[in-house]
Amino acid sequence: MLQPRESTHGGDEGDVPAKQRSDSPGVLAKGKEDQDCCSLDDLRNIPTREAPYIHPTNACPGCVMLLNAPADVAAQTLVVSCSACLFLKKWELHGTAAVNLFLKPKQIRSNCNVSCCLQIKSESHKGACPAASMTSEVVENEFEFYSKAEKYWKDVPATVDGMLGGYGHISSIDINSSRKFLQRFLRDGPNRTGTTRALDCGAGIGRITKRLLLPLFKTVDMVDVTEDFLTKAKSYLGEEGRRVRNYFCCGLQDFSPEPNSYDVIWIQWVIGHLTDNHLSDFLKRCRAGLRPNGIVVIKDNMAQEGVIMDDVDSSVCRDLDVVRKIIRRAGLHLLAEERQENFPDEIYHVYTFAMR
Ligand SMILES: C[S@@+](CC[C@H](N)C(=O)[O-])C[C@H]1O[C@@H](n2cnc3c(N)ncnc32)[C@H](O)[C@@H]1O
Repeated sequence: MLQPRESTHGGDEGDVPAKQRSDSPGVLAKGKEDQDCCSLDDLRNIPTREAPYIHPTNACPGCVMLLNAPADVAAQTLVVSCSACLFLKKWELHGTAAVNLFLKPKQIRSNCNVSCCLQIKSESHKGACPAASMTSEVVENEFEFYSKAEKYWKDVPATVDGMLGGYGHISSIDINSSRKFLQRFLRDGPNRTGTTRALDCGAGIGRITKRLLLPLFKTVDMVDVTEDFLTKAKSYLGEEGRRVRNYFCCGLQDFSPEPNSYDVIWIQWVIGHLTDNHLSDFLKRCRAGLRPNGIVVIKDNMAQEGVIMDDVDSSVCRDLDVVRKIIRRAGLHLLAEERQENFPDEIYHVYTFAMR
């Protein structure tokens, strides 16, 4: 997970929210620093000399190898992995008896996806840790999922670099590719998309509004859950900002675009903050918000496989198939799909989808 850092460019152009992929060295390095982190080496080095607490059901469910309880069960809770298949097992000490229990699949998954056990996931993912395929498998408490994200963004600097998780320097590459992608729909032709009004969803301080939407559309509306970002937008957008009609401070899960109003609804680097059901319902409302020939555009990080939880900013990253399924569920049809080129190798792949 990337921590935001202050822009080295005065917080303006050249900023981007890319996230490092969960299998990237940066993320693993971050995991090591975490307080509760148990690296694979740590787990392997837990002493396993014969202990007084060998439980009769002490077989690893992953590969049925017998496991020895660690000798120092004096620690109240120990998590160890089976050296054969790396399945996780937890010992708890109750009074004088050590009770051991396998972590439930869900716990294993969330351990693997959050800071503490990223290293275990990267080495054991093949067999022991099936990927989640929907947000309900990784989001345990919806209320907390949203409130944690709101809290996270409140502490992020209102700069382009803040918007982009410290990757401010790739903002121009992002905007230039987006412009090229969008312009093919705005060209003359019978189904040409109009240029009257656009909506920037999860707009932040208006990085996209400023450089992509205001130059192409007569008016733009912005919606974001973080009030400070919208306040900042008013100065960040400069003179051209007077063509921003509405600054809606609202979570997308609760927001309804005005029906039949927008030529383009742009949703970038924010879908991970919505659960599957909320995303699909929001996309349905976006569909109703389109003017004739209007399009909805999603541009976001794509996981390699499944749905990956990020506990730091309380978001998920979905794989391409999961995102396509949600788009279909919302009754939208894909018109174009493109992978962003020239982004740094260590970040998630980024895809743009146009639909109506
Ligand atoms: C990674 S930034 C992207 C900002 C902008 N789209 C860009 O590309 O520059 C994510 C933005 O989503 C906003 N956000 C997070 N959760 C949200 C939600 N549930 N509804 C609306 N906005 C949300 C944050 O406040 C933040 O401005």
